Amino acid sequence: LASIEVDVGALEPGQSLTVKWRGKPVFIRNRTDKEVADAKAVDLSELKDPLARNANIAADAKATDVDRSAGEGKENWLVMIGVCTHLGCVPLGESGEFGGWFCPCHGSSYDTAGRIRKGPAPENMAIPISSFISDKVIRIG
Ligand code: FES
Repeated sequence: LASIEVDVGALEPGQSLTVKWRGKPVFIRNRTDKEVADAKAVDLSELKDPLARNANIAADAKATDVDRSAGEGKENWLVMIGVCTHLGCVPLGESGEFGGWFCPCHGSSYDTAGRIRKGPAPENMAIPISSFISDKVIRIG
């Protein structure tokens, strides 16, 4: 299937689920207010990868928190391909020193917006084509 629809209505803040899309895991997280605030507080000059890597917006968009998220008004939602941009392992959630994801293969740490902050991975985790088609349902692809 080219696209999938995922009901996220049961996900409380701080909860995630992983779905499979085109053979890859996609992480969907309802971020807490603190996770969003932590990501927003990061100065963009500190980022290893300055680009949003969000297939829904311009390729040169900066990696601000809102442009990593599902967008204005849906900033608590993060939908991203759960594949480490180093060599493709699946990172672990709610871990690592930046409070986001940690890839145990070679030690890459991502923040609460899925941006690479430390370790060998070169890029932020990718945001696939995705959008809310109702209050509770996200279409990916
Ligand atoms: Fe994730 Fe190497 S594959 S750090």
